[in-house]
Amino acid sequence: MKKVVLIISSIALLASCNKKEEKKTSLYPETKKTEAQLQLELGQEIFDGKGMCYSCHKPDQKIIGPSIKEIARIYKEEGASIVEFLKEKGDPIVDPTQYQLMKANFAITKNLPEEELKALEAYILSHSK
Ligand code: HEC
Repeated sequence: MKKVVLIISSIALLASCNKKEEKKTSLYPETKKTEAQLQLELGQEIFDGKGMCYSCHKPDQKIIGPSIKEIARIYKEEGASIVEFLKEKGDPIVDPTQYQLMKANFAITKNLPEEELKALEAYILSHSK
């Protein structure tokens, strides 16, 4: 009998803990994200995920491909379009000697919807002021 009481009271305790937690989170309602923030998040998700861009491009340092910062800086300076580049409609302007390596990725990027290409572009450009 004692055991049963113990079990019941511990369940009640657990339940009351859960309730507290619920109240706590609802005290801090999620702030609404702007369109721009959502676009950046989508861009990063593709860059690190199905685009597999991250395996060759890191934010600060050149590995196989140029750093994301380097790409952002040059595209801003030149006022060029990353979206067009990813559709294979633009010329390489960052490191044309290594273009062949990048070209293999057009198989992925050419099939992405415009919205996702724009998100990738926004994400890359966000790395330079
Ligand atoms: C196998 C390695 C590799 C992967 C994966 C890769 N890249 Fe690249 N990328 C490169 C190399 C190497 C260059 C340098 C050649 C060049 O500038 O075209 C480059 C250059 C670029 C450039 C600059 C192009 C220019 O004008 O010179 C952009 C933008 C870019 N990559 C975006 C991406 C995106 C977005 C993805 C993911 C969808 C991606 N890369 C995946 C290797 C890669």
